[in-house]
Amino acid sequence: NYDIVLKDKKILITSGRTKENIDPIRYLSNNSSGKMGYSLAQAAVDLGAKVTLISGPTNLETPNGLKRFISVESALEMYEKVNEYFEDTDIFIACAAVADYRPKEYKKEKIKKSDSDLIIELVRNPDILAEMGKKKDKQLLVGFAAETNNIKENALKKLEKKNLDIIVANNASTMGTDKNIIEIIKKDKTSIEINQKSKIELAYDILNEVILVLKKDKN
Ligand code: C5P
Repeated sequence: NYDIVLKDKKILITSGRTKENIDPIRYLSNNSSGKMGYSLAQAAVDLGAKVTLISGPTNLETPNGLKRFISVESALEMYEKVNEYFEDTDIFIACAAVADYRPKEYKKEKIKKSDSDLIIELVRNPDILAEMGKKKDKQLLVGFAAETNNIKENALKKLEKKNLDIIVANNASTMGTDKNIIEIIKKDKTSIEINQKSKIELAYDILNEVILVLKKDKN
């Protein structure tokens, strides 16, 4: 009966990639599809939560029944929107593949090619999840970590560093294969490993762990 626990809970989810513009026609980005975040949003809606989905560009259909859908492009825009809604949030799930860097300068006109090489200086983007970890009050925080080695150890470090309640670690070395192993690790260091499931099934498993934490905190 996990639907009862999530009913009317305010859940904020970031999803997709970010797009960091270089000039009017060029940008830096990554391959994240946004499927995991959209699956989480749909599952949370179906369990009765009030879901705000903040999404970078994706090819996905917007889930039905959201409280609000906010479309953003850059990490800075995503950060601004997360800041706006974080205070009035019960659960924040950071699923977006946020670009770690952005071009220091946006060129208003198309960069012309020349015969020499081109250097584009990059500056750090804010770590949205870590910043919310600092601001955290009543909110439960869930993050993701793609790791290739010492998976649990590295994920636990990230969980502590960003002040999270739950981290979902996936084995980056199995990416692109049909072996999809994730481990959901909680602050108390208990964890469960899940093999070979669709993203919508994984979404329910992740929300189930969120509910267990909420129930434990209540008692
Ligand atoms: O440190 P790392 O990038 O591996 O952490 C991944 C987690 O942090 C994900 O939950 C991701 O959504 C979040 N993140 C973020 N803002 C960034 C970088 C990562 O919210 N700039």
